[in-house]
Amino acid sequence: MEELTNIRLSESGDSLVIIDQTKLPGELEYIELRSREELFEAISRLRVRGAPAIGIAAAYGYCLCAKEDMEEPDFFRRMDDAERYLASSRPTAVNLFWALERMRQTLRKNALLPREEIVERLFAEAKAIHEEDIASNLRISEYGLSLIKDGDCVLTHCNAGPLATSRYGTALGPILLAKERGMDIKVFADETRPLLQGARLTAFELHNAGVDVTLICDNMAGQVMKEGRISAVFIGCDRASRCGDAANKIGSSSLAVLADHYGIPFYMFAPLSTVDMGAASGKDIRIEERDPNEITELYFEKRMAPEGIKVYNPAFDVVDHRLITGIVTEEGIVTAPFEENFNKAFQRKKARTENKDA
Ligand code: MRU
Repeated sequence: MEELTNIRLSESGDSLVIIDQTKLPGELEYIELRSREELFEAISRLRVRGAPAIGIAAAYGYCLCAKEDMEEPDFFRRMDDAERYLASSRPTAVNLFWALERMRQTLRKNALLPREEIVERLFAEAKAIHEEDIASNLRISEYGLSLIKDGDCVLTHCNAGPLATSRYGTALGPILLAKERGMDIKVFADETRPLLQGARLTAFELHNAGVDVTLICDNMAGQVMKEGRISAVFIGCDRASRCGDAANKIGSSSLAVLADHYGIPFYMFAPLSTVDMGAASGKDIRIEERDPNEITELYFEKRMAPEGIKVYNPAFDVVDHRLITGIVTEEGIVTAPFEENFNKAFQRKKARTENKDA
């Protein structure tokens, strides 16, 4: 199957074209987002989702707002409003705020230029964010590949594949790369309640790529680990704090506890844009709480819980850094002590980027 492009600008540059991930795997539908309201809706309803993909979409969204408002006398105030509005679409994945911050800095740096040129610079920055993510994914995938060998079986949770990023993905990157290189890697994919990103998206991506993938319910992970079938856990990340505590899809923390119990290496995968050095620990990461209806009825033919029942629906949890074997970044596999080693990874990235620009 041909590679899918989950996010791209339309040819006119007036809209963003995304795959509506809520329709997968049943329908492959591309939708066009023209306004900030449409962008906000697409991010908050998870039509576009996954930490890096949200950042990329928001960056392009910021450009579309700038293009629309460039003739307005209060252009800069409007752009601040647009940034705040887009930033409020989801709270946990830091890539959203990271990308918007980069866009704001580009706006400020070029504030004295004619408006049309400002808008051009903004589009160039959004494309750079997109292209950097593709390059990071490839490097992350190569580092991840060094952790597995022929015949291994990886357990994954939620979806950290190309749909959640730009290309290859993060946690699924090594598996897709392994497949391309003729290796035999098997995968168990958790279905990932309540929004079924594992069943709908990971199973779809891996199956299409010809990877040997077996779908399980989230509560079966302990069983397959106990049966000795799992060589490593590979999952994505929505925000890593500087001590190494890292948020990812709800269920990640229990997987880490299970992996620790069974002595299975537990790796999280994150570009450095997902590392939030401003968050000291997991306590500083805001966990999104979503509509109870996702648990009681969304993917059921008929509502499955009594009317009026109390529901708690946190969308993410935080994996304690002591349970993480390593966080695979584009600058290598970061292990404890995390703060020190994240700093080194950021320095390596800076040196590499400066060398490339020189
Ligand atoms: O709520 P979602 O589907 O956006 O959650 C996504 C995840 O938890 C992913 O694992 C994470 O964003 C990493 S994607 C490379």
